[in-house]
Amino acid sequence: MRSQSILALGLATIAAAAPKPQTPDKPIDFVISLFETNLTCDTSTTPAKSVTGTGCQNRTLSKGGSALVRISVSSPGGFVTGYSEEGCKGEVLVVFTQTDGCTSFDDVSVKSWIGGAPFDESGK
Ligand SMILES: *[C@@H]1O[C@H](CO)[C@@H](O)[C@H](O)[C@H]1NC(C)=O
Ligand SMILES: *[C@@H]1O[C@H](CO)[C@@H](O)[C@H](O)[C@H]1NC(C)=O
Repeated sequence: MRSQSILALGLATIAAAAPKPQTPDKPIDFVISLFETNLTCDTSTTPAKSVTGTGCQNRTLSKGGSALVRISVSSPGGFVTGYSEEGCKGEVLVVFTQTDGCTSFDDVSVKSWIGGAPFDESGK
């Protein structure tokens, strides 16, 4: 019995040290981090806000911010597309092609996000 409780304690410690899972009971297409006032995805000056879920997500990232893709489930290539209007309409402003690549938005605001690449491969 004694060795069992030591094992349980060990497992609890490992679980506490691991990064917090992203809402594991909810399906997700992607997780992106938005840095609202930093162009270089720098977490020391700007705490990141996560956007996560399935389908189109309305979340504005204004000019002067940056974003990177943490997780992409819908495409193994890591695609997440950002649009100029809510509801994933308007212009395609960004197509992320990898995870963890920081993209700066110094002259456009992105209003919505969706997992997957746009239908046209050129991204327009
Ligand atoms: C972003 O963070 C970096 C590192 O702290 C800093 O050098 C840079 O000036 C910041 N940029 C903005 C626009 O705040
Ligand atoms: C996003 O915004 C559009 C337009 O305002 C709206 O039609 C759509 O339902 C919104 N989507 C979500 C998930 O809130």
